[in-house]
Amino acid sequence: MVTLLENPLRVGLQQDRIPEPQILVIFGASGDLTQRKLVPALYQMKLERRLPPEITIVGVARRDWSHDYFREQMREGVEEFGGGLRKESTWEEFAKGLFYFSADIDNPEGYQKLKVFLEEIDAQRGTRGNRVFYLSVAPRFFAEAIQQLGAANMLSDPRKQRLVIEKPFGKDLSSAQMLNRVVYSTCAEEQIYRIDHYLGKETVQNLLVFRFANAIFEPLWNRQFVDHVQITVAETVGLEGRAGYYETAGALRDMVQNHLMQLFSLTAMEPPNSLDADSIRNEKVKVLQATHIADPENLELSAVRGQYTSGWMNGQPVPAYREEEGASPESTTATYAALKLVIDNWRWKGVPFYLRTGKRMSKKVSEIAIRFREVPFLMFQSAAKQVNSNVLALRIQPNEGIALRMEVKTPGSSLRTRSVEMDFSYENAFGQPNTEAYSRLLVDCMLGDQTLFTRGDEVEASWRILAPVLEVWDAPAPPDVIPLYEAGTWGPIEAELLLNREGRRWRRL
Ligand code: BG6
Repeated sequence: MVTLLENPLRVGLQQDRIPEPQILVIFGASGDLTQRKLVPALYQMKLERRLPPEITIVGVARRDWSHDYFREQMREGVEEFGGGLRKESTWEEFAKGLFYFSADIDNPEGYQKLKVFLEEIDAQRGTRGNRVFYLSVAPRFFAEAIQQLGAANMLSDPRKQRLVIEKPFGKDLSSAQMLNRVVYSTCAEEQIYRIDHYLGKETVQNLLVFRFANAIFEPLWNRQFVDHVQITVAETVGLEGRAGYYETAGALRDMVQNHLMQLFSLTAMEPPNSLDADSIRNEKVKVLQATHIADPENLELSAVRGQYTSGWMNGQPVPAYREEEGASPESTTATYAALKLVIDNWRWKGVPFYLRTGKRMSKKVSEIAIRFREVPFLMFQSAAKQVNSNVLALRIQPNEGIALRMEVKTPGSSLRTRSVEMDFSYENAFGQPNTEAYSRLLVDCMLGDQTLFTRGDEVEASWRILAPVLEVWDAPAPPDVIPLYEAGTWGPIEAELLLNREGRRWRRL
């Protein structure tokens, strides 16, 4: 029996400490993320008594807001996008720790003044010089903000000063390498928290527990038993008014390089020696380094893009991508991407991993499906025309859970088989909604735990995998280069062919 003390799952992924008093400085605080996600997530943690009373949030942005106006905006955010205030007195206590500071991201003087302001807060609120700087600004300002923080001597103490960088980290391999160089010229990797909110999801963290706390699955988790793996992240939303960003990002940069690659590497990696941040990240990097697009010479055989046209979602007409506000009428930006990846190592040689993601798909659903090999010899031919192979489906969201599909005999005198599922549902088992991913990640960062954040070499490794696709998809091309799919469907027909030509098909979800 493995005792609790010996059990490595006890050392990482657990969050039972309270962070030290500190100031969270959010750059880009007048933007959506702060109001919709970050502050509601922090308030939730406050309600759960997971934050120290001294916790202070300083919103930094260019607009000329007062502290009170910032507090009002954040209150609206908690009411509208969080779980509500719940207790007025708790909100009032929390709001006392909210401040606003107006500054231009490229003005050195602003950083000097901010530094003095933060020192005043330290004296007033007992935050002891502990800082988390959160860059929630447009990616083109990341390098500038990091350099300015460095020049103002605000990142010189790795024990007390941390930096959170939102995605996307770079727009390709060389820009990610360049950004890493800027980061390392200013601070140490141990201060850096590259955020990917998928790692804050319970179901994503559970991938490690599921794989490495159960003895029966790991022996099957390899080329001997697995036929292929499908990773799907389908969304129903469209552009959501983000054309300025999305037109230059597209599905590969917005979803694949980060969220899907995290799901991929956690599924495919070798068991780490322990659950400390570096052991896990070492294994993720190792598997990413062994991975490549299946057929880079004939890209269309292993990479399919698509863009949605107008269609119907929930009984409502929705516009085509090219008709969305801010999108070019001739845009070739991909709102859908499907890739076939292969891994050159002993565990996975010959097992394709198919990844797909898209906006305006018929259903919001994310899952990882491990499809096992067919039985070697079928003795039921006369009874069952076709016996389905086993599938293990890890449902990331919604309806979080895990299902194992297997064949059984249907009751009756004749021999017929049918697929049934053994199903585990988080809701039935634990009856509580998942914690918001940002709550988990923000508290981890304040605690100095980097396990659920992406390391510099990991980001570079995932950009490297996508490089051959980006090269072709970024090249100027006429509008008809991109396959179209109707909003509310499962993507372009070319994506079906990607699997069909290999005798496989995408799961119907
Ligand atoms: C973000 C992307 O990172 O993730 C969005 O920029 C996307 O385009 C979102 O909609 C999806 O997140 P979730 O948690 O809803 O799956």
